[in-house]
Amino acid sequence: MAETKGPSRKAQKLSTLSLFQQPIHPGSAISAMNFSVAAVRQILLAADALEREDPLRRAKRLAKRRVALLFYEASTRTRTSFELAAKALGADTTLVSSLSSSIEKGETLKDTGITLKALGAECIILRSPYSGAPYLLAQTTGLPVLNAGDGMAEHPSQALLDLRTILQRLKIRASAVNEKCLRGITLTICGDVLHSRVARSNALLLPRLGARIIFCGPEELLPESATAMGPGVSIERDFDTALRQSQVAMVLRIQAERLAGLKIDLDEYRRRYQANTERIAACAPKTPILHPGPIIRGMEITDEVADGPQSAIAAQVANGVPVRMALVARALKGGRR
Ligand code: CP
Repeated sequence: MAETKGPSRKAQKLSTLSLFQQPIHPGSAISAMNFSVAAVRQILLAADALEREDPLRRAKRLAKRRVALLFYEASTRTRTSFELAAKALGADTTLVSSLSSSIEKGETLKDTGITLKALGAECIILRSPYSGAPYLLAQTTGLPVLNAGDGMAEHPSQALLDLRTILQRLKIRASAVNEKCLRGITLTICGDVLHSRVARSNALLLPRLGARIIFCGPEELLPESATAMGPGVSIERDFDTALRQSQVAMVLRIQAERLAGLKIDLDEYRRRYQANTERIAACAPKTPILHPGPIIRGMEITDEVADGPQSAIAAQVANGVPVRMALVARALKGGRR
């Protein structure tokens, strides 16, 4: 029997390249860079309008449309708020998590996506430990994919809800969002920046609105160079110095699950980088304090600061629902496929 020859190495390479050149559904949100400044304004205006809308009327917007939540990693805030957002628009939702599905038996991301599409899913919300997984899923299914956090890469919906929180604290309306609306505003992001997809998405979004970002933390938890993160981002190792320059601050937890053997002296970390009452009173007495969660009380932030008047943590969580309503509505715009 004649042996069937497979594609040549060159053809394989070309087909892989063409895979990465395939357009993805325009309703997808894979990276903060997917949103132009005008699109950011539109999303935030839509979030305002959807939040104000009569719930019965709102629930007709996506009545009976099917949204799948595919979560390969633990989540409380993102999963719940995406689910509540889709349901508030009237969509039917289904949750597939790695512990209770055929993912456990070894089913691939591609086959899981194809299966969800065959079951009628019109949009997939994906959290994955692998950077780039949402892009791959968007390519293989042709569906709009909303990135709910991929590895150490990005968390674009978190950056949008962080932006909404910052604008509320600074009393800037969504209609005023433009390339200069955050000019003169510095945001310090302190903690495990290296492993943080939240830090990365914020660094890709906020400087395009005029903000300056300072990354702060121990050397081993910071990127080697701030310039690699793009314009408007710098590094300051001293938290007090960074806070004194900032109008907004965000603290991050140390991501123990991604440290890969890296050892951190936790007492030293608390001493130098903890957001505690003394430090905040001395260096940032009026600065809103954000944290994407989950928070580790007594480590990167104390009870007093997390629950105090400057904390914007609950506002961030609450902003998750309207922002994600706007993203789900955007993904399913244009009617049933
Ligand atoms: N901010 C955030 O992504 O939280 P969860 O991991 O709980 O979704």
